[in-house]
Amino acid sequence: MKNVMILAGAGQIGMAIARRMGYRMKIVVGDKKPENAQAVARTMNEAGFDVTPVEMDLSSRSSIQNFIAEAQKYGNITMLVNAAGVSPSQAPVEAILKVDLYGTAVLLEEVGRVIAPGGVGVTISSQSGHRMKQLTPEEDAQLACTPTENLLKLPLLQPENIRDTLHAYQLAKRCNEKRVMAESVKWGTKGARINAISPGIIVTPLAIDEFNGARGEFYKNMFAKCPAGRPGTADEVANVAELLMSEKGAFITGADFLIDGGATASYFYGPLKP
Ligand SMILES: NC(=O)c1ccc[n+]([C@@H]2O[C@H](COP(=O)([O-])OP(=O)(O)OC[C@H]3O[C@@H](n4cnc5c(N)ncnc54)[C@H](O)[C@@H]3O)[C@@H](O)[C@H]2O)c1
Repeated sequence: MKNVMILAGAGQIGMAIARRMGYRMKIVVGDKKPENAQAVARTMNEAGFDVTPVEMDLSSRSSIQNFIAEAQKYGNITMLVNAAGVSPSQAPVEAILKVDLYGTAVLLEEVGRVIAPGGVGVTISSQSGHRMKQLTPEEDAQLACTPTENLLKLPLLQPENIRDTLHAYQLAKRCNEKRVMAESVKWGTKGARINAISPGIIVTPLAIDEFNGARGEFYKNMFAKCPAGRPGTADEVANVAELLMSEKGAFITGADFLIDGGATASYFYGPLKP
């Protein structure tokens, strides 16, 4: 038996983190697109890792439960990397809320039930959640603590209160940050830690869909006018994940780390200010 990493989402960010942290482990990678999970498994197995692909839909609790049960066949789950998600140009409002908001909340809850003592997790949120205006303390508490099956019934998540897919994505990512805070309290009772990482524009298939989508110019302007002046790479996100998931991060839990080349700073106080 090995220690097991659950990797939700066979994308570039997920693979970069798994390559950084998953040596000596069994990695079970789940993705809605089986071909993506298989491609990551092949690439990593050919680089000396031990990866098994499974089909998994983050928007379904039963699919998440099957994914966890599959992973448990190989040993104790000691790491979670959640890098599955859809972007504003890839999906309608309803799907963004079901996958990015509800699905992430269910995954954190379900893995929190079985995570081994000393276990660690990261979930990929987004700078988008940081750019959105502050919510009320009551709304933040609702996103953090509402039982998962009631989350999508919250008034602030009803269609009449959501302007477009970008707004839905921002709400989902704000929810990820709040959910991680609430979950970290539960994970702490097991000696386990969970954090969020909020990347800016990272070149991946998801970001390339954004560059080529309706908001393409908006995104290109964003990385041109951020202090770093460029988009980031998945391996730079893995640098942060390594800190959070290793012993050096032992005092960090319930936190959200912004890694966006300063785009959010420029949005508030620099040339990206609307
Ligand atoms: N790339 C960026 O610029 C950026 C910025 C901020 C946040 N993020 C977030 O990072 C995460 C990973 O994205 P990425 O950029 O690595 O993209 P990616 O396209 O490389 O990977 C995303 C993966 O998630 C999978 N997926 C989509 N819906 C799913 C579902 N319902 N169930 C299971 N898997 C599903 C896709 O099939 C894909 O393999 C996402 O949550 C995204 O919102 C990305």
